[in-house]
Amino acid sequence: MENREVIVETRDLVKIYGDGAEVRALDGVNMAVLAGEFVAVMGPSGSGKSTLLNMIGALDRPTSGTVLVNGQDLAQVRNLDSFRARTVGFIFQMHNLIPTLTARENVEVPMRGQGFSHRDRRRRSAELLELVGLAERMNHLPNMLSGGERQRVAVARALANNPAIILADEPTGELDAARSQEIISLMHRLNHELGTTFIVVTHDLAVARQTDRVLVMDSGRIVREHIIADPYSEDLRQLKDSPLGRALLGAREVDLVAAGVPLRQGGQFTAMGQMLREVLEKV
Ligand SMILES: Nc1ncnc2c1ncn2[C@@H]1O[C@H](COP(=O)(O)OP(=O)(O)O)[C@@H](O)[C@H]1O
Ligand SMILES: [Mg+2]
Repeated sequence: MENREVIVETRDLVKIYGDGAEVRALDGVNMAVLAGEFVAVMGPSGSGKSTLLNMIGALDRPTSGTVLVNGQDLAQVRNLDSFRARTVGFIFQMHNLIPTLTARENVEVPMRGQGFSHRDRRRRSAELLELVGLAERMNHLPNMLSGGERQRVAVARALANNPAIILADEPTGELDAARSQEIISLMHRLNHELGTTFIVVTHDLAVARQTDRVLVMDSGRIVREHIIADPYSEDLRQLKDSPLGRALLGAREVDLVAAGVPLRQGGQFTAMGQMLREVLEKV
Protein backbone atom coordinates (compact mmCIF):
# COMPACT_ATOMS: atom_id res chain seq x y z
CA MET A 1 0.00 0.00 0.00
CA GLU A 2 2.94 2.30 0.65
CA ASN A 3 3.65 2.65 -3.07
CA ARG A 4 0.14 3.64 -4.01
CA GLU A 5 -0.48 7.21 -4.96
CA VAL A 6 -2.61 9.59 -2.96
CA ILE A 7 -5.88 10.05 -4.80
CA VAL A 8 -7.74 12.32 -2.36
CA GLU A 9 -6.17 14.84 -0.07
CA THR A 10 -7.56 17.68 2.01
CA ARG A 11 -5.45 20.40 3.59
CA ASP A 12 -6.78 22.54 6.42
CA LEU A 13 -10.25 22.17 5.03
CA VAL A 14 -12.80 24.52 6.59
CA LYS A 15 -16.48 24.84 5.76
CA ILE A 16 -18.63 27.39 7.51
CA TYR A 17 -22.35 27.47 6.86
CA GLY A 18 -24.66 30.41 7.43
CA ASP A 19 -23.87 34.05 8.01
CA GLY A 20 -25.74 34.90 11.22
CA ALA A 21 -25.23 31.94 13.52
CA GLU A 22 -22.26 30.31 11.85
CA VAL A 23 -21.78 26.57 11.85
CA ARG A 24 -18.23 25.32 11.43
CA ALA A 25 -19.14 22.08 9.72
CA LEU A 26 -15.48 21.39 8.93
CA ASP A 27 -12.84 22.84 11.20
CA GLY A 28 -9.47 22.08 9.64
CA VAL A 29 -9.58 18.62 8.12
CA ASN A 30 -6.33 17.07 6.90
CA MET A 31 -6.63 13.66 5.37
CA ALA A 32 -5.25 11.56 2.57
CA VAL A 33 -6.66 8.51 0.86
CA LEU A 34 -4.60 6.20 -1.33
CA ALA A 35 -5.77 4.95 -4.69
CA GLY A 36 -7.60 1.66 -4.20
CA GLU A 37 -8.21 2.16 -0.49
CA PHE A 38 -11.54 1.42 1.17
CA VAL A 39 -12.00 3.99 3.90
CA ALA A 40 -14.87 4.43 6.36
CA VAL A 41 -15.79 7.76 7.91
CA MET A 42 -17.59 7.54 11.25
CA GLY A 43 -18.65 10.00 13.91
CA PRO A 44 -21.74 11.42 15.60
CA SER A 45 -24.54 13.06 13.69
CA GLY A 46 -23.59 16.62 12.76
CA SER A 47 -19.84 15.98 12.99
CA GLY A 48 -19.27 16.97 9.35
CA LYS A 49 -19.13 13.61 7.56
CA SER A 50 -21.52 14.52 4.76
CA THR A 51 -19.95 17.95 4.41
CA LEU A 52 -16.54 16.33 3.99
CA LEU A 53 -17.88 13.99 1.32
CA ASN A 54 -19.54 16.89 -0.47
CA MET A 55 -16.27 18.86 -0.53
CA ILE A 56 -14.32 15.87 -1.88
CA GLY A 57 -17.01 15.27 -4.50
CA ALA A 58 -17.04 18.95 -5.48
CA LEU A 59 -20.75 19.19 -4.70
CA ASP A 60 -19.98 22.28 -2.68
CA ARG A 61 -17.09 24.70 -2.23
CA PRO A 62 -15.02 24.91 0.96
CA THR A 63 -14.77 28.18 2.89
CA SER A 64 -11.01 27.74 2.99
CA GLY A 65 -8.41 25.05 2.58
CA THR A 66 -7.68 22.74 -0.29
CA VAL A 67 -9.12 19.58 -1.80
CA LEU A 68 -6.87 17.68 -4.18
CA VAL A 69 -8.35 14.88 -6.25
CA ASN A 70 -5.96 12.99 -8.50
CA GLY A 71 -3.45 15.70 -7.66
CA GLN A 72 -5.74 18.40 -9.02
CA ASP A 73 -6.74 21.29 -6.80
CA LEU A 74 -10.53 21.47 -7.11
CA ALA A 75 -10.39 25.25 -6.75
CA GLN A 76 -8.50 25.35 -10.06
CA VAL A 77 -10.90 23.11 -11.97
CA ARG A 78 -12.83 25.16 -14.52
CA ASN A 79 -15.71 22.81 -15.21
CA LEU A 80 -16.60 21.10 -11.97
CA ASP A 81 -19.65 19.36 -13.45
CA SER A 82 -17.60 17.59 -16.02
CA PHE A 83 -14.78 16.86 -13.57
CA ARG A 84 -17.25 15.36 -11.12
CA ALA A 85 -18.97 13.28 -13.77
CA ARG A 86 -15.68 11.77 -14.91
CA THR A 87 -14.02 11.28 -11.55
CA VAL A 88 -16.47 10.52 -8.76
CA GLY A 89 -19.56 8.39 -8.33
CA PHE A 90 -22.03 9.06 -5.51
CA ILE A 91 -24.17 6.69 -3.50
CA PHE A 92 -26.54 8.19 -0.95
CA GLN A 93 -28.53 6.76 1.93
CA MET A 94 -31.75 7.21 0.03
CA HIS A 95 -30.98 5.70 -3.33
CA ASN A 96 -32.22 8.86 -5.14
CA LEU A 97 -33.35 6.93 -8.19
CA ILE A 98 -35.67 8.74 -10.57
CA PRO A 99 -39.04 7.04 -10.00
CA THR A 100 -40.27 7.35 -13.58
CA LEU A 101 -37.17 5.77 -15.11
CA THR A 102 -36.37 2.06 -15.24
CA ALA A 103 -33.33 0.67 -13.45
CA ARG A 104 -31.45 0.72 -16.71
CA GLU A 105 -32.45 4.28 -17.59
CA ASN A 106 -31.41 5.41 -14.10
CA VAL A 107 -27.97 3.90 -14.62
CA GLU A 108 -27.71 5.75 -17.92
CA VAL A 109 -28.43 9.17 -16.44
CA PRO A 110 -24.80 10.07 -15.51
CA MET A 111 -23.59 8.89 -18.93
CA ARG A 112 -25.57 11.58 -20.69
CA GLY A 113 -23.40 14.34 -22.01
CA GLN A 114 -20.27 12.23 -21.48
CA GLY A 115 -19.73 11.32 -25.11
CA PHE A 116 -21.44 7.92 -25.04
CA SER A 117 -23.54 7.01 -28.05
CA HIS A 118 -27.05 5.76 -27.36
CA ARG A 119 -25.87 2.24 -28.15
CA ASP A 120 -22.87 2.44 -25.82
CA ARG A 121 -25.11 3.71 -23.04
CA ARG A 122 -27.48 0.79 -23.52
CA ARG A 123 -24.65 -1.70 -23.55
CA ARG A 124 -22.89 -0.26 -20.55
CA SER A 125 -26.03 0.04 -18.41
CA ALA A 126 -26.82 -3.62 -19.12
CA GLU A 127 -23.27 -4.65 -18.19
CA LEU A 128 -23.32 -2.66 -14.97
CA LEU A 129 -26.68 -4.04 -13.89
CA GLU A 130 -25.38 -7.50 -14.59
CA LEU A 131 -22.30 -6.70 -12.51
CA VAL A 132 -24.48 -5.84 -9.51
CA GLY A 133 -26.66 -8.92 -10.04
CA LEU A 134 -29.72 -7.21 -11.48
CA ALA A 135 -29.70 -8.43 -15.08
CA GLU A 136 -33.25 -9.71 -14.61
CA ARG A 137 -34.53 -6.45 -13.19
CA MET A 138 -33.24 -4.06 -15.81
CA ASN A 139 -36.58 -2.79 -17.01
CA HIS A 140 -38.20 -2.49 -13.61
CA LEU A 141 -39.17 0.86 -12.16
CA PRO A 142 -37.69 1.65 -8.73
CA ASN A 143 -40.99 1.01 -6.93
CA MET A 144 -40.97 -2.54 -8.30
CA LEU A 145 -37.61 -3.23 -6.66
CA SER A 146 -36.76 -4.04 -3.03
CA GLY A 147 -34.70 -1.61 -0.95
CA GLY A 148 -31.56 -3.68 -1.43
CA GLU A 149 -32.12 -3.89 -5.18
CA ARG A 150 -32.67 -0.16 -5.45
CA GLN A 151 -29.41 0.45 -3.65
CA ARG A 152 -27.66 -1.93 -6.04
CA VAL A 153 -29.04 0.12 -8.94
CA ALA A 154 -27.57 3.18 -7.20
CA VAL A 155 -24.21 1.38 -7.04
CA ALA A 156 -24.41 0.58 -10.76
CA ARG A 157 -25.30 4.20 -11.48
CA ALA A 158 -22.34 5.41 -9.42
CA LEU A 159 -20.10 3.25 -11.61
CA ALA A 160 -21.55 4.55 -14.86
CA ASN A 161 -18.59 6.67 -15.91
CA ASN A 162 -16.01 4.31 -14.45
CA PRO A 163 -15.01 6.77 -11.72
CA ALA A 164 -11.75 6.40 -9.83
CA ILE A 165 -13.54 7.25 -6.58
CA ILE A 166 -16.89 6.32 -5.13
CA LEU A 167 -18.26 8.44 -2.31
CA ALA A 168 -21.03 6.75 -0.36
CA ASP A 169 -22.99 8.56 2.34
CA GLU A 170 -24.57 6.03 4.68
CA PRO A 171 -25.33 3.68 1.79
CA THR A 172 -26.72 0.98 4.07
CA GLY A 173 -28.57 3.33 6.40
CA GLU A 174 -32.00 2.24 5.21
CA LEU A 175 -31.26 -1.47 4.89
CA ASP A 176 -31.52 -4.40 7.28
CA ALA A 177 -28.34 -6.23 8.32
CA ALA A 178 -28.48 -8.87 5.57
CA ARG A 179 -29.14 -6.32 2.82
CA SER A 180 -26.41 -4.06 4.21
CA GLN A 181 -23.93 -6.90 4.04
CA GLU A 182 -24.88 -7.52 0.41
CA ILE A 183 -24.18 -3.92 -0.52
CA ILE A 184 -20.91 -3.86 1.39
CA SER A 185 -19.78 -7.13 -0.19
CA LEU A 186 -20.65 -5.71 -3.58
CA MET A 187 -18.61 -2.58 -2.89
CA HIS A 188 -15.67 -4.72 -1.75
CA ARG A 189 -15.85 -6.78 -4.90
CA LEU A 190 -15.79 -3.62 -7.02
CA ASN A 191 -12.93 -2.26 -4.92
CA HIS A 192 -10.90 -5.40 -5.63
CA GLU A 193 -11.93 -6.07 -9.21
CA LEU A 194 -12.01 -2.52 -10.56
CA GLY A 195 -9.56 -0.91 -8.13
CA THR A 196 -12.12 1.80 -7.36
CA THR A 197 -11.34 3.86 -4.27
CA PHE A 198 -14.21 3.93 -1.76
CA ILE A 199 -14.90 6.51 0.92
CA VAL A 200 -17.94 5.39 2.86
CA VAL A 201 -19.72 7.26 5.63
CA THR A 202 -21.32 4.77 7.98
CA HIS A 203 -22.74 4.40 11.48
CA ASP A 204 -22.47 0.65 11.20
CA LEU A 205 -19.50 -0.86 13.04
CA ALA A 206 -19.86 -4.09 11.08
CA VAL A 207 -19.41 -2.09 7.88
CA ALA A 208 -16.48 -0.10 9.26
CA ARG A 209 -14.67 -3.24 10.41
CA GLN A 210 -14.56 -4.47 6.83
CA THR A 211 -12.70 -1.45 5.53
CA ASP A 212 -8.96 -0.71 5.42
CA ARG A 213 -9.14 2.33 7.65
CA VAL A 214 -11.66 4.25 9.72
CA LEU A 215 -11.51 8.02 10.11
CA VAL A 216 -13.47 9.18 13.13
CA MET A 217 -14.87 12.72 13.02
CA ASP A 218 -16.12 14.95 15.79
CA SER A 219 -17.10 18.63 15.61
CA GLY A 220 -15.72 19.09 12.11
CA ARG A 221 -12.37 17.44 12.76
CA ILE A 222 -10.82 14.05 12.31
CA VAL A 223 -10.14 13.02 15.87
CA ARG A 224 -9.00 9.41 15.47
CA GLU A 225 -7.91 6.96 12.87
CA HIS A 226 -8.05 3.18 13.08
CA ILE A 227 -6.14 0.95 10.73
CA ILE A 228 -8.40 -2.02 10.21
CA ALA A 229 -6.13 -3.90 7.83
CA ASP A 230 -4.46 -5.12 11.02
CA PRO A 231 -7.51 -6.06 13.07
CA TYR A 232 -5.50 -6.62 16.24
CA SER A 233 -3.64 -3.37 16.34
CA GLU A 234 -6.48 -1.34 17.84
CA ASP A 235 -7.10 -3.93 20.55
CA LEU A 236 -3.40 -4.06 21.29
CA ARG A 237 -3.16 -0.28 21.48
CA GLN A 238 -5.98 -0.30 24.00
CA LEU A 239 -4.28 -3.04 25.98
CA LYS A 240 -1.01 -1.11 25.94
CA ASP A 241 -2.79 1.96 27.35
CA SER A 242 -4.61 -0.05 30.02
CA PRO A 243 -3.30 -0.34 33.61
CA LEU A 244 -2.33 -3.93 32.84
CA GLY A 245 -0.36 -2.92 29.74
CA ARG A 246 1.36 -0.10 31.59
CA ALA A 247 2.25 -2.41 34.47
CA LEU A 248 3.61 -4.99 32.04
CA LEU A 249 5.79 -2.54 30.16
CA GLY A 250 6.75 -0.66 33.28
CA ALA A 251 7.81 -3.97 34.85
CA ARG A 252 6.65 -2.90 38.26
CA GLU A 253 7.46 -5.25 41.07
CA VAL A 254 3.94 -6.58 41.35
CA ASP A 255 2.52 -9.92 40.42
CA LEU A 256 0.37 -9.66 37.31
CA VAL A 257 -2.38 -12.00 36.30
CA ALA A 258 -4.55 -11.57 33.22
CA ALA A 259 -7.54 -13.81 32.57
CA GLY A 260 -6.20 -16.25 35.12
CA VAL A 261 -2.80 -16.52 33.41
CA PRO A 262 0.18 -15.31 35.46
CA LEU A 263 2.25 -12.74 33.54
CA ARG A 264 4.66 -11.84 36.29
CA GLN A 265 5.30 -13.87 39.37
CA GLY A 266 7.84 -13.46 42.14
CA GLY A 267 9.63 -10.61 40.37
CA GLN A 268 9.97 -12.55 37.10
CA PHE A 269 8.01 -12.43 33.87
CA THR A 270 6.43 -15.72 32.96
CA ALA A 271 6.81 -16.98 29.38
CA MET A 272 3.35 -15.61 28.60
CA GLY A 273 4.16 -12.28 30.24
CA GLN A 274 7.39 -11.97 28.29
CA MET A 275 5.62 -12.76 25.02
CA LEU A 276 2.91 -10.19 25.63
CA ARG A 277 5.52 -7.61 26.58
CA GLU A 278 7.34 -8.13 23.32
CA VAL A 279 4.12 -7.78 21.34
CA LEU A 280 3.09 -4.61 23.17
CA GLU A 281 6.52 -3.05 22.77
CA LYS A 282 6.01 -3.12 19.01
CA VAL A 283 2.56 -1.49 19.05
N1 LIG B 1 -26.48 23.32 3.98
C1 LIG B 1 -26.26 23.56 5.27
N2 LIG B 1 -26.57 24.75 5.81
C2 LIG B 1 -26.34 25.01 7.11
N3 LIG B 1 -25.78 24.14 7.97
C3 LIG B 1 -25.45 22.94 7.49
C4 LIG B 1 -25.68 22.58 6.12
N4 LIG B 1 -25.24 21.30 5.94
C5 LIG B 1 -24.77 20.89 7.12
N5 LIG B 1 -24.90 21.86 8.05
C6 LIG B 1 -24.45 21.77 9.46
O1 LIG B 1 -23.08 21.40 9.45
C7 LIG B 1 -22.82 20.46 10.48
C8 LIG B 1 -22.25 19.19 9.87
O2 LIG B 1 -23.27 18.58 9.10
P1 LIG B 1 -23.08 17.23 8.29
O3 LIG B 1 -21.85 17.32 7.49
O4 LIG B 1 -24.34 16.96 7.58
O5 LIG B 1 -22.86 16.18 9.47
P2 LIG B 1 -22.98 14.58 9.46
O6 LIG B 1 -23.06 14.12 8.05
O7 LIG B 1 -21.76 14.11 10.18
O8 LIG B 1 -24.21 14.25 10.23
C9 LIG B 1 -24.11 20.26 11.22
O9 LIG B 1 -24.12 21.12 12.34
C10 LIG B 1 -25.16 20.68 10.23
O10 LIG B 1 -26.31 21.15 10.87
MG1 LIG C 1 -24.56 13.04 7.08
